[in-house]
Amino acid sequence: MLSLSYFFLFLLINISVVEVLGVDKFSRDDFPPDFVFGSGTSAYQVEGAANEDGRGPSIWDSFSHSGKMHGANGDIACDQYHKYKDDVQLMVDTGLEAYRFSISWSRLIPNGRGPVNPKGLQYYNNLINELSSNGIQPHVTLHHNDFPQALEDKYGGWLSREMVKDFTAYADVCFRNFGDRVLHWATMNEANVFAIGSYNGGYLPPGHCSSPFGINCTRGNSSTEPYLATHHILLAHASAARLYKEKYQKQQHGFIGINLLAFGLHPLTNKTKDVIATQRAMDFLIGWYADPLVYGDYPDVMKKNVGSRLPAFTNLESNLVKGSFDFLGLNYYAMIYIKDDSSKLNMEVRDFDADMAVSLSVFRDETEVEYYLPYRAAIQNDTSVNEFPTTPWALQELLEYFKQAYGNPPIYIHENGQKTQRNSSLEDESRVNYLHGHIGALLDALRNGSNTRGYFQWAFLDVLELLDGYESSFGLYYVDLDDPDLKRQPKLSAHWYSHFLKTKGVSSDGFIKLEKNLTAFSHAHFSR
Ligand SMILES: *[C@@H]1O[C@H](CO)[C@@H](O)[C@H](O)[C@H]1NC(C)=O
Ligand SMILES: *[C@@H]1O[C@H](CO)[C@@H](O)[C@H](O)[C@H]1NC(C)=O
Ligand SMILES: *[C@@H]1O[C@H](CO)[C@@H](O)[C@H](O)[C@H]1NC(C)=O
Ligand SMILES: *[C@@H]1O[C@H](CO)[C@@H](O)[C@H](O)[C@H]1NC(C)=O
Ligand SMILES: *[C@@H]1O[C@H](CO)[C@@H](O)[C@H](O)[C@H]1NC(C)=O
Ligand SMILES: *[C@@H]1O[C@H](CO)[C@@H](O)[C@H](O)[C@H]1NC(C)=O
Ligand SMILES: *[C@@H]1O[C@H](CO)[C@@H](O)[C@H](O)[C@H]1NC(C)=O
Repeated sequence: MLSLSYFFLFLLINISVVEVLGVDKFSRDDFPPDFVFGSGTSAYQVEGAANEDGRGPSIWDSFSHSGKMHGANGDIACDQYHKYKDDVQLMVDTGLEAYRFSISWSRLIPNGRGPVNPKGLQYYNNLINELSSNGIQPHVTLHHNDFPQALEDKYGGWLSREMVKDFTAYADVCFRNFGDRVLHWATMNEANVFAIGSYNGGYLPPGHCSSPFGINCTRGNSSTEPYLATHHILLAHASAARLYKEKYQKQQHGFIGINLLAFGLHPLTNKTKDVIATQRAMDFLIGWYADPLVYGDYPDVMKKNVGSRLPAFTNLESNLVKGSFDFLGLNYYAMIYIKDDSSKLNMEVRDFDADMAVSLSVFRDETEVEYYLPYRAAIQNDTSVNEFPTTPWALQELLEYFKQAYGNPPIYIHENGQKTQRNSSLEDESRVNYLHGHIGALLDALRNGSNTRGYFQWAFLDVLELLDGYESSFGLYYVDLDDPDLKRQPKLSAHWYSHFLKTKGVSSDGFIKLEKNLTAFSHAHFSR
């Protein structure tokens, strides 16, 4: 338990940090002209048409149809497959400079390997052309938690080294067909969380875990699989990146990277063991991927705690992975407090959590249930939709960390946004404040030398959410699921972002007034 005075101290610290940052005064023009602002979605979360035009099932279809997403699935989602022209027009109206979306591997290559589905090829060509002809940059993810079910059935997906070859062949199809117009490729979305959620906790597709770890485990091995999957993911990323660099980059002039979920991590207390635990958590959650990508090997603390369960890189593999990116994509949502829990290392059988040996919480109050990643809460308590605490300074710290620990690589913030209950209100002031705060923090980081090249708000629409199904949402646009047309309606945040993007040279004084104006406006026009 923390004492009350301690809590007030914490408040004071935060208030002074906010004042020092001075995040309020900025406009689009304060960012470099080639810095890019956009918004994102992913294939399964937005496309729908899951059983149309030859698309094969992905692991995400199987997962959702087994009832693991609050009964929700992406069969229809936002129906962007049929509505992409209207959606691109909405992006134009909003003033987006870029759109981040993913390609559904099983729409393009239904069996994971083998023949390409011409209708799939046509769809992505149409979408990319629609974006390009409207001056919106396509930023494409190849694997957003959704590889073909056929490959899970055939050889266990990422648990097998065969994925390296199949993923590279899929990437080749994408580079060859779309690379003349797509200049920004991310191989994997949230590779670190995919490995943890899918192979340790079992709460993401394909839902592997072993008891006593995870929830309702029917298959998997939480002691070994997260590490094995990660090893293959890193090799597959590096193999696709090498292919791109050797075969396509000279003619196409694009860039390739990989995306991780990143956190602002803070020790819960100033005790030495919590400070050490915070670095350990950083090494497990970020260094697990970033260290091999930048330095060619896993962090020492992982080798020590995981032991022989951690695959080792051969020299050849290490050289393949090291430096195999032009940029890192980071998704940032919230700051997390870290408390040492070294007692977990005494467990006879350990999973990723136990190897990391910390407790995590987005709240500083130790009485809060421990939960892991912003996501865990959704599993443990599927009824409540909690908004994220708004902690923009932690984004600035995170970018400073990448600058110092990893040599300031080019970074795209690929996701950042606030969660609200899906159909709560179009007057999403908390989302406006969240975006305003984080874009301001990003500007501060840039001014202090961060090599960040772009920012993508998550999400453009109220999409199917990974763990909350259709119960929570992050969208700038509300999608009315009760309307057969799935009509999109702008929230306050859509107006705010649009104003920020379009009104060059107007500083945030204007934004703040605009917020007030829009609130009045939305009260008058959008109340439901
Ligand atoms: C776990 O399984 C039980 C019994 O089948 C079920 O009631 C519960 O909803 C499941 N929990 C999750 C998170 O899937
Ligand atoms: C997980 O794999 C390890 C190493 O192969 C093995 O010792 C352990 O029994 C496995 N656990 C489960 C639950 O299968
Ligand atoms: C921890 O130490 C730092 C640096 O000495 C100090 O600024 C901060 O207030 C301390 N935090 C807590 C929660 O005691
Ligand atoms: C879920 O919420 C209920 C009611 O708010 C609470 O009593 C319970 O402890 C929560 N469970 C978890 C695992 O967070
Ligand atoms: C600014 O950058 C310098 C050099 O990396 C660093 O020492 C300092 O802490 C940074 N300031 C902030 C507020 O991040
Ligand atoms: C809000 O959405 C939830 C989940 O889809 C639904 O159960 C509920 O009826 C909706 N409430 C309103 C007021 O539309
Ligand atoms: C806010 O509304 C007032 C009156 O409706 C208008 O005069 C003013 O220009 C608006 N401010 C902004 C920043 O849009």
